[in-house]
Amino acid sequence: MTNTVEAAISPEATPEQLREQMISELKRSGDLTSPEVETAMRKVPRHEFTPEAPLEKAYAAFDAVVTKVNEQGTAMSSVSAPQVQAFMLEQAGVGPGMRVLEIGSGGYNAALIADLVGEDGQVTTMDIDPDVTERAERLLKQHGYDTVRVVTGDAAVGVADRAPFDAILVTAGAWDIAPVWRDQLAEGGRLVVPLRVRGLTRSIAFARHGDRLVSESVRVCGFVPMQGADEHHTQVLLVTGTEEIALKFDDEVMGDPSDLDNAVKAPRSETWTGVTIGRQQPFDTLQLWLATKLDGFCTMVVRDDLDTGIVTPANKWFAMAAVAGNSFGYVTWRRIEGDDGGVELGVHTLGPQAPELAEQLADHVRSWDLEQRGGSGPRFAVHPAGTPDDQLSGERVVNKRSSRITISWPEA
Ligand SMILES: C[S@@+](CC[C@H](N)C(=O)[O-])C[C@H]1O[C@@H](n2cnc3c(N)ncnc32)[C@H](O)[C@@H]1O
Repeated sequence: MTNTVEAAISPEATPEQLREQMISELKRSGDLTSPEVETAMRKVPRHEFTPEAPLEKAYAAFDAVVTKVNEQGTAMSSVSAPQVQAFMLEQAGVGPGMRVLEIGSGGYNAALIADLVGEDGQVTTMDIDPDVTERAERLLKQHGYDTVRVVTGDAAVGVADRAPFDAILVTAGAWDIAPVWRDQLAEGGRLVVPLRVRGLTRSIAFARHGDRLVSESVRVCGFVPMQGADEHHTQVLLVTGTEEIALKFDDEVMGDPSDLDNAVKAPRSETWTGVTIGRQQPFDTLQLWLATKLDGFCTMVVRDDLDTGIVTPANKWFAMAAVAGNSFGYVTWRRIEGDDGGVELGVHTLGPQAPELAEQLADHVRSWDLEQRGGSGPRFAVHPAGTPDDQLSGERVVNKRSSRITISWPEA
């Protein structure tokens, strides 16, 4: 059973004032960069596409408006945050005359796209959930966007009769690249997709080069999960047999889970790296660096209500971690005294190989700091499943069901 969030409108500021404020915030944050996307965001009345939310919430620059939740309370559909919509439209480079497919419908984003492509362009929006497409179609029609074609269907199939597209924007969290997204994209066209690679989600803009897709820009993001034929579940290794410490593996099968049976019995090793992160300094490329370098890369979650202190990551909800044989470890940080918000990165490791694993993890943190910090980050390329190894380049190959994804880093 799912339910729909009910309506409530707050009377305080006018929609126009809130819209201007939203646009200013997005320009300041660097998410909104082109005059074209700015004009579209100024024109389309977002609150009319989010009747479920109070006015302030509709125009909150960094908040999605959830429109559907499942029995477990997980959001299954939303009108994405303006921030995410802005940077994905910028990543896609949507412009006049383009044919665009949006996968995952909310109404508002399709309206923005319709304004950006203009009368000579064409917009198709698809969603697997008929409640969502009914809602999107109704709102689009009500607000004059009746040229947008709304299709109910699975992203894994795409919309062949409207292809080829100059841009495809996927707005549900994908684990794999469905072959039709490449096949229905024009040569040189752009696919923007929130892709999960080794447990890390990034909005990646790919350009099509024949049967390959090559990344052009990468942004950190989070999305509701993909449903349908390409739904994917992470594998979870419960270190103590309870849900206290969960290691999550996204792609390759982990080693034998029983290897870690004795890991928590040996003393924990703690190593501090000397690598510091200032307040609000990004380190998202460190996550990708470790995911590239470490075969046993995973993410770790610690359940607060079951926490016995065996592991103490600074962020219990999401820690970068790795398993190596009978040992595991994770990255954490500690505050630097006298530095307002600055932290030093460190690693904690457990198990018979804890000291060696600590050194290995710490070395990777230090090499990121020396070689890649502040850089452009890695390049991703998507190859069809079955592409032979000798046709792939890059420092890590991540195998999905329909694709082989390579991650390459710039020379230091
Ligand atoms: C974040 S919402 C879309 C937001 C929308 N683009 C906007 O901001 O206006 C994600 C949507 O993806 C849809 N979805 C999930 N899996 C899908 C699939 N396999 N095919 C099509 N749509 C899917 C969900 O039903 C949900 O409505």
